[in-house]
Amino acid sequence: MIAVYPGSFDPVTLGHVDIIGRAAKITNKLVVAVLKNSSKSPMFNVQERVETLREVCLGIRNVEIAAFDGLLVEYARSIGANAIIRGLRAVTDFEYEFQMALSNRMLDDNIETLFISTNAQYSYISSSVVKEIARLGGDFSQMVPKAAHIKLLQKMGSM
Ligand code: COA
Repeated sequence: MIAVYPGSFDPVTLGHVDIIGRAAKITNKLVVAVLKNSSKSPMFNVQERVETLREVCLGIRNVEIAAFDGLLVEYARSIGANAIIRGLRAVTDFEYEFQMALSNRMLDDNIETLFISTNAQYSYISSSVVKEIARLGGDFSQMVPKAAHIKLLQKMGSM
C-alpha cells in the first residue's frame, strides 16, 4: 500500500512523528505531504517544514517527504497512493476528520482514509499550542522532535 499523510506540520510535533512511525509500519511507502497553500498563516515556510520533516524521518526507510497544493485526492492519485492516513488524538478530532474523509471519498471512491490513534501521551499536543508556548518563552521540548525544537528556538531568536 502506498499512502499519503497530509498536513500543515507547522511545526511537526511528537504526535505527528508517532503517527508517521505507526503508518510506516503498515505501508510499503508513506509520503508525508506538506500542504503549500493553507488558509492558516504559517510560522515556517513550506521549504522549512519539508526540511524539518526530512531530518526527523531520516531513519525511516519507506518514508518520503513532499509538498503539495490543490486537492489532496488529486495529489494522492498523481503519486499512485491509494490511502490517506490521518491521526486521531481525541473524539473532538473525529467530526472534522470524518467530514474530510467523506468529502475525499466523494471526490475519489478509490482512495481510502485510514485513521490511526495517537499515542495517549501526545493526545493534547497541537502545532498551535507548541507555537504559543514558544512565543511566550515556555519549555516545549517534550512536545516536538529535536530538529523542530532547534528550528523554533532559532525562529524565536530571529523575531
Ligand atoms: N499529533 C499532534 N498534533 C496533531 C496530530 C497528531 N497526531 N494530528 C493533528 N494534529 C494537529 C496539528 O498540529 C494541527 O494543529 P493546529 O491546528 O494547531 O495547527 C491540527 O491538528 C490539524 O492540522 P493538520 O493535521 O496539519 O491538518 P490540517 O487541518 O491543517 O490540514 C489537510 C488538513 C492538509 C489534510 C487538508 O486541509 C487538505 O486535504 N487540504 C487540501 C485541499 C483539499 O483536498 N480539500 C478537500 C478535502 S476536505
